[in-house]
Amino acid sequence: MILVTGGAGFIGANFVLDWLASQDEPVINLDKLTYAGNPDNLSQLQADARHIFVHGDICDRALVSALLTQYQPRAIVHFAAESHVDRSIHGPGDFIRTNVDGTFSLLEATRAYLSTLDDAGKAGFRFLHVSTDEVFGTLSTTDPAFSETTPYAPNSPYSASKAASDHLVRAWHHTYGLPVLTGNCSNNYGPLQFPEKLIPLMIANALGGKPLPIYGDGQQIRDWLYVGDHCAALRRVLQAGQLGETYNIGGWNEKANLDVVHTLCDLLDELKPSTQSYRVQISFVTDRPGHDRRYAIDARKIERELGWRPQETFETGLRKTVQWYLDHQDWVRKVQSGEYQQWMSTNYAQRQEASA
Ligand code: NAD
Ligand code: TYD
Repeated sequence: MILVTGGAGFIGANFVLDWLASQDEPVINLDKLTYAGNPDNLSQLQADARHIFVHGDICDRALVSALLTQYQPRAIVHFAAESHVDRSIHGPGDFIRTNVDGTFSLLEATRAYLSTLDDAGKAGFRFLHVSTDEVFGTLSTTDPAFSETTPYAPNSPYSASKAASDHLVRAWHHTYGLPVLTGNCSNNYGPLQFPEKLIPLMIANALGGKPLPIYGDGQQIRDWLYVGDHCAALRRVLQAGQLGETYNIGGWNEKANLDVVHTLCDLLDELKPSTQSYRVQISFVTDRPGHDRRYAIDARKIERELGWRPQETFETGLRKTVQWYLDHQDWVRKVQSGEYQQWMSTNYAQRQEASA
């Protein structure tokens, strides 16, 4: 079996669902169920004996060690993290705790566990660390895309904490021989994404008749990857990645935020027409402090060495995503209660409306 951390969140839940849809190898899913972790994401696995859910913290080394001893997994796929840049600006402490201390704790528990395995068990074991392209910092419009050798230059508390975790993973390989693999992926979108991130937030606000808040001039560029493609890339890295190597994972889809929101509005106009275009709800607001201007991923290494390429285009992936949110308004309403309201007022109340 494999141990997944953070498998009740957006990408982790998609990974667990895809994994069990395509094979029978069981999954132990360790998740703290923070605001971003949602057991409803896994409700279809409730009666599935191949999925063992454990409510717990990756920082709890005794718990992690006990799980490793009890279940003897052949791999760990490490998603658990605090993942939202805006939240890291308002409260960086949780990011250091989970992303840095939590990864350290997991690495140490894994190292101790590996020392108990025989040679075959050690040789087959993998620690797959799920990271982000944000560790490389920001690009100008003319810079080449991030490659695996681009120097780290994180700019937000979130990206700094992920960069620190990447460095720990690398060091545990070089110093202790831990069999690690790292994926640095671009912005994901798709079903089950918590509506604090750009795409699901804009869909939710559009349908709720609320403003669509574009930070700054909306010309910041991200590379977008459909979550199912990211999960397929991770399965491939786990299966065939070279130990100690890092793989940049991206969608070859660089888009400016304003263009993304225009496309979303046009899709909603088609799939859920209202009296006027959703574009009229677009509202330019104060920019994010330290906002990275452009991310772009050169994903040629994973294609060349492991034969992975994304299957979805931005158009097909976004259409599926919008349709999923339209079909799952109950899911959206449920996650919008309580803590979500507090976050929305923390992040948006002080942002002035501005003209572009
Ligand atoms: P998410 O915020 O939706 O989910 C994170 C999950 O981790 C939640 O289920 C949460 O409960 C759990 N968690 C948080 N702290 C924990 C702890 N201390 N112990 C156990 N579980 C804990 O995040 P996501 O968007 O699914 O991202 C997953 C991973 O992928 C993260 O490591 C993130 O840095 C990385 N990543 C995300 C993106 C993206 O666009 N979302 C892109 C590249 C990389
Ligand atoms: P986000 O989904 O938070 O991902 P990240 O910051 O990790 O790239 O944001 C994606 C882009 O959208 C980023 O440039 C910030 C911008 N953005 C807005 O313009 N308005 C918003 O309300 C949000 C949440 C994001």
